[in-house]
Amino acid sequence: MKLKLAIALALAAMSAQAAEPWMDKSLSADQRAELALKAMTQQEKLRYVLGHFGSDFGNKTKKHPAALPSSAGYIEGVPRLGLPALFETDAGLGVATQATKTPRERTSLPSGLATAATWNRELAYQGGAMIGAEARASGFNVMLAGGVNLLREPRNGRNFEYAGEDPLLAGTMVAQQVKGIQSNHIIATTKHYAVNDQETGRFVLDSRIDDASNRMSDLLAFQFVMEQSDPGSVMCSYNRLNGVYACESDYLLNQVLKKDLGYKGYVMTDWGATHSTVESANAGLDQQSGWEFDKSQYFGGALEEAVANGHVSQARLDNMVFRVLRAMFDKGVADNPVAEGGAIDFNAHKLVSRADAEESMVLLKNAGKVLPLKSNAKKIVIIGAHADVGVLAGGGSSLVYPVGGNAVPGIEPTVWPGPVVYHPSSPMKAIQARAPGAQVVYNDGKDPAAAAQAAAGAEVVLVFGQQWVGESLDAVSLALPDNQDALIASVAKANPNTVVVLETSGPVLMPWVDQAAAIVQAWYPGTAGGEAIARVLFGEVNPSGHLPATFPAAESQLPRPKLDGDPKNEAVRFTVNYHEGAAVGYKWFDLKGLKPLFPFGHGLSYTQFTYSGLVASQKDGKLSVSFKITNTGAVKGKDVPQLYVAPLNAKWEAPKRLAGWDKVELAPGESKEVSVTVDPRLLGVYDSRSKTWRIAKGGYKVLLAQDASDVKAASITIQLPQRTLNVAGK
Ligand code: GLC
Repeated sequence: MKLKLAIALALAAMSAQAAEPWMDKSLSADQRAELALKAMTQQEKLRYVLGHFGSDFGNKTKKHPAALPSSAGYIEGVPRLGLPALFETDAGLGVATQATKTPRERTSLPSGLATAATWNRELAYQGGAMIGAEARASGFNVMLAGGVNLLREPRNGRNFEYAGEDPLLAGTMVAQQVKGIQSNHIIATTKHYAVNDQETGRFVLDSRIDDASNRMSDLLAFQFVMEQSDPGSVMCSYNRLNGVYACESDYLLNQVLKKDLGYKGYVMTDWGATHSTVESANAGLDQQSGWEFDKSQYFGGALEEAVANGHVSQARLDNMVFRVLRAMFDKGVADNPVAEGGAIDFNAHKLVSRADAEESMVLLKNAGKVLPLKSNAKKIVIIGAHADVGVLAGGGSSLVYPVGGNAVPGIEPTVWPGPVVYHPSSPMKAIQARAPGAQVVYNDGKDPAAAAQAAAGAEVVLVFGQQWVGESLDAVSLALPDNQDALIASVAKANPNTVVVLETSGPVLMPWVDQAAAIVQAWYPGTAGGEAIARVLFGEVNPSGHLPATFPAAESQLPRPKLDGDPKNEAVRFTVNYHEGAAVGYKWFDLKGLKPLFPFGHGLSYTQFTYSGLVASQKDGKLSVSFKITNTGAVKGKDVPQLYVAPLNAKWEAPKRLAGWDKVELAPGESKEVSVTVDPRLLGVYDSRSKTWRIAKGGYKVLLAQDASDVKAASITIQLPQRTLNVAGK
């Protein structure tokens, strides 16, 4: 019966599609949305503004009958008019499954922070294209991806979902992912808008930051995503911003997003982030998501009534629906119906994930060239982090269940934001395959003394450090948990050839940094993470990751040494005062003259690169920079030359800003000319009153650096004229 109904509905939809004027592809998305809207009844309009949850969540929610199983969300369509329903899946690492006994197993990218650490726009695009293809093949036409909250808080439990501390790097890399996702004719959703920069108390906290600082930091990252990828939707966040819930904020939704940025897509809430009908609709909210997590169906009958009694205008409701319809036409959702059961080439997708992971890995230290490992090694000892069977993933709604199942089931928490998942890509197996003659010994690392004993006498010891965090859970500190610092210290004491491989969400402290011979930051490396780690360790891939976030030497260096809020009491509203303003990450460290453990942009290679011939020119204030980069080492490799700009007199939030970069692959001895054009807004200061960016006349130093602390950076000074630019930088 169900099949017959499905066929009948599909035929109805197809026949409706054939006849209706809004299905005329020669028309613009605006025209098509207008035509469809005109044909809809009020009840049909209301369907597109109300999102249902797609999973049973304990006794809290019931899955909507038409939603895909264990999915994030479902919005009813209008089959009468051939307008499809919206099937929503999380998230930025791949097709996630809401905690369930029968998860859909899909390919996981490495963490978002890992992709940012590649500084490789093409990889970010390819990764997005791959997970978007799996979303479409799984029956989804909305992917709740594109997380771009700035890494203001290194302990934030969701840093692994985002793209680091700098708005230019984060915005550029996430924009590429969104473009990749949307290349599959589905809608991507950039999130969490805005300044949802920690997890503790996320439902109640009040983020405080002035407009100008916000426009030059968190909002600038979102702006770059909007401008460079035009996501079909934006997800407003749980938190308050300057006293007003983000999803009721006329400032965020109507003024900044829709008016100043000219955004034409639609705004959906996070799940449980809707707090009203009239206020939120009139503030610019277009769709309530997962209404079951809210106190009421604010955008159900209550909205119908609010329109009937004039508290929300019919024009506002029509505009809400118009924006959803426009995104459906503009992104190809209406013209390309989705269905479950599409083919997925998991082997090809695994290679996409591996390429991203291996290029994300950051060689932080390599004393005595202990890396790359030798394939004729005789004894290799591997310690900790279940490196014998898999690699760690982060928790929460972005969790992609692995093809082949969890390599280490049963680790608490086994319920949301758990389970704790290890992708079944064993570093040990991949290492063994590359050193066939070696005796490879695994020790679980639980007993530092036993681990040290196991380590003694080995040619090389690989000790894996891990830190599991997840949505709704910030790291309690930047120290590695579970006594791992003691483990690493004792192993390094027992064997000078100790290599530390980190599987963490983001920055961590390293009290053993001087004792370890080498350190590789592998992040949460995704479906092929074990192989990617081995390929980097053995030099099959020359590491080329560069830090997208500053690694502090101590929590006392942070703008907020102690994390705000109380994880044990998340009902009480509190304020997070982002007093650093736009001085996020390396900008804060520069401003305060602090020395980090490892700076933003840092990353070593198995070869060496030099830069020369730095020239800068400006035409009407548009700054162009070019230089030559040479591989002076003995092996092929990729480098990330970074351009920073530092005003000689103008007052910025910090001494310098990242203004551009390139990722360049060079054979030994090869050189390349690189040119970078700087977005003029990165040379100015935002003025809230006039809503303009103002570049002060005067001298600016252009630095060509290997990282944000590169004291040997080449630099030249250039004079720039005074310029005033609009929000779009024109
Ligand atoms: C979650 C997350 C959001 C996710 C949504 C649906 O609470 O904050 O990122 O897309 O709900 O799962």
